[in-house]
Amino acid sequence: MKKRQGFSSSIGMVMATAGSAVGVGNIWRFPYILGEYGGAAFLIVYLLMVMLIGIPLMVTEMAIGRRGGEDASKSFKKIAPNTKWYLSGLLGIAAAFIILGYYNVVAGWTLKYIVNAATDVFNSSITPDKTTALFQNFVSAGLEPIVYTFIFMGLTMFIVYNGIEKGIEKASKILLPILAIILVVLAIRSLMLPGASEGLKFLFKPNFSSFFEKKDSILVAMGHAFYSLSLGMGIIITFGSYTPKEENLGKVAIKISVMDTIIAVLAGVVIFPAVFSFGLEPSQGPGLVFISLPNVFGGMYGGRIFGTLFFILLSFAALTSTISLLEVVVSYLIDSKGLKRSSATLISGGLICIICVFSSLSMGSHLENFTIFGKTVFDFLDYITANIFLLVAAFMEVLFIGWFYKKGEFMEEITEFGIDKSNLTNFVYFSVRYVIPVMIVVLFIVNNGLI
Ligand code: PFF
Repeated sequence: MKKRQGFSSSIGMVMATAGSAVGVGNIWRFPYILGEYGGAAFLIVYLLMVMLIGIPLMVTEMAIGRRGGEDASKSFKKIAPNTKWYLSGLLGIAAAFIILGYYNVVAGWTLKYIVNAATDVFNSSITPDKTTALFQNFVSAGLEPIVYTFIFMGLTMFIVYNGIEKGIEKASKILLPILAIILVVLAIRSLMLPGASEGLKFLFKPNFSSFFEKKDSILVAMGHAFYSLSLGMGIIITFGSYTPKEENLGKVAIKISVMDTIIAVLAGVVIFPAVFSFGLEPSQGPGLVFISLPNVFGGMYGGRIFGTLFFILLSFAALTSTISLLEVVVSYLIDSKGLKRSSATLISGGLICIICVFSSLSMGSHLENFTIFGKTVFDFLDYITANIFLLVAAFMEVLFIGWFYKKGEFMEEITEFGIDKSNLTNFVYFSVRYVIPVMIVVLFIVNNGLI
């Protein structure tokens, strides 16, 4: 039998998984949520969520994948034969597939914005009205955003087609360090702007009254921890299955979460000082990066270069995540359905492109009025995955590990057969058994407006 592919080294595994975690979620979603939920107070609660829930769940998913040694669904069949727990893996795979159907569209926009910034579209004559119109006109243009989306999907497919070591691991090892360097350069530039300290205050000086003004703050923080760490969608299970046995999962999960969080905070350091310096609103919502920031680049010295760098950064972040999402589906088609990597990549990539067409068209007049449960295709896909699929999949995982799987076997997997005697492993089990299930149920009820 052909040997199953895997990561070549510890550093390769960490970089690929960190690449998956660091995505549009860190640089686009995190700053605008932070802006809407009052800044520093949200950051503190978010950090707590990463520690209490994110890290334990990441360790758990890695353990399931490594123990099972197969794709996100078959791994469950291996460790819990003749049960239905594999359905949670299947749900994660479905989530990854659906997420790609809209995430790729946003990723495509980042390519267009590289072109915009590089060709000096964001020059000194730009105004907030113009950047708004530019964004609206582009995303609703029909063909153009679809072309960019396809280019992005093509890149994603090319990397995944090349396999784990030569594709995903290599791409992450190259893209992630460049991304980090660009981020630091941009942060320094942003901190040099007049009035930058206001932005830093917003980011680091907590104001809990604005945080608690919104009822769902804590839940949004938890939901974003899931999103940002790529949990509940089979990614970490799949990557766990490519992880060498001697790797200490707790240490790896901490490294990845720390990197992911540092990058999100650094994105805040890039964005908020600039936003405050130019007198823009931090609570802009999803338009913060595509509508507000171009004004900043238009008005600042060196804006053409820094703007181009910013959107390159965003597209790299997106690419290291789309490859991990596609790998979840591809590995399922290989391990469970017996396809070759090449056909698995082509088939899943092709189907995802079709979904992308619908979500892209739903941003404009073509399909704007076509709604599912009152939402456009784009919003619907985002909603069902982030609020339902991820949570149900993660809930089933913790239920299985915390209450049905043999504790001894799980502990064996996360302690390197008893070598690791740290309290972290006990904490992981406690969190998996009690904290995470309770939090997910609450999150689910509130997120879906059931109370
Ligand atoms: N964790 C990545 C991000 O924050 O962008 C990738 C990702 C995870 C995207 C989960 C979408 C998602 F629902």
